[in-house]
Amino acid sequence: MQIATTIEEVRTLVKSWKKEGCTVGLVPTMGYLHEGHGSLISRAREENDKVVVSIFVNPMQFGPGEDLDSYPRDLEKDSAYCESLGADLIFHPEPSEMYTEGFCSYVDMSVLTEELCGLSRPVHFRGVCTVVNKLFNIVAPDRAYFGQKDAQQLAVIRRMVEDLNMDIQIVGCPIVREEDGLAKSSRNTYLSAEERQAALVLSCAVTCGQELVAAGETDAKKIVAQMKALIEQEPMARIDYVKAVDGLTMQQIDTVKKPMLVALAVYIGKTRLIDNFIV
Ligand code: PAJ
Repeated sequence: MQIATTIEEVRTLVKSWKKEGCTVGLVPTMGYLHEGHGSLISRAREENDKVVVSIFVNPMQFGPGEDLDSYPRDLEKDSAYCESLGADLIFHPEPSEMYTEGFCSYVDMSVLTEELCGLSRPVHFRGVCTVVNKLFNIVAPDRAYFGQKDAQQLAVIRRMVEDLNMDIQIVGCPIVREEDGLAKSSRNTYLSAEERQAALVLSCAVTCGQELVAAGETDAKKIVAQMKALIEQEPMARIDYVKAVDGLTMQQIDTVKKPMLVALAVYIGKTRLIDNFIV
């Protein structure tokens, strides 16, 4: 496995692979890897000749006052993990390599990015779309892998690829959870022992919502209300949003339909966590 820090290194290597007729899978990440990321890397390993993992804490997708500076980093551990999963290349650029002086071009999506996380994180998806577009241009993968954990991000990336005619297959992968149900996240490291326990309220709300749908509930507002009521019983939790939306457009819906996304963002202390389920 190689580690590249410059765009030129990546391009040279990928070109040599493509000359040999190899297919390339890309797994974009911000590092501090866990089994959620691992599931994406393993899937990419199964489906491509070569696997590239990008590790880049993208400043553009963090708003003022968010956790850019405290975001956890551990390249050494991440490298060992990627190698153990059979990745061929880690792309780990400095911000100055990705954003050269005078940078002023962005991918700015409307509609889908104006709901859910876009409301409390207004610059977030512009940063995500811009960096993912750049990574696609740098690596030129055949396939790129994203987790259902960030359901709105996955929908936004699919929309971007369709709207801008990018010749890349987007592969969505299921949420990987801790044994007790908490969705794995690099941000779980921010939680104290007490907060870690309280954070279970997110996956409990997801289970509650899933059970209501399975029992035949068709009123999306009722599902959301019950999930909210459950979360409100946890004193350490503060709801950012719990919403039922159309799984493609991210627009709020009142009646259960397919595809439906029920998504939630909840602060546990100062840490903002997300979870969701799709129907
Ligand atoms: P990051 O939060 O590091 O996540 C990288 C990828 O791993 C995303 O596609 C995310 O959905 C997936 N992932 C994270 N936790 C997961 C879990 N528990 N189960 C399954 N998949 C999981 O998302 C980003 O980075 C960035 O926004 C990025 C796309 C890299 C752009 O900067």
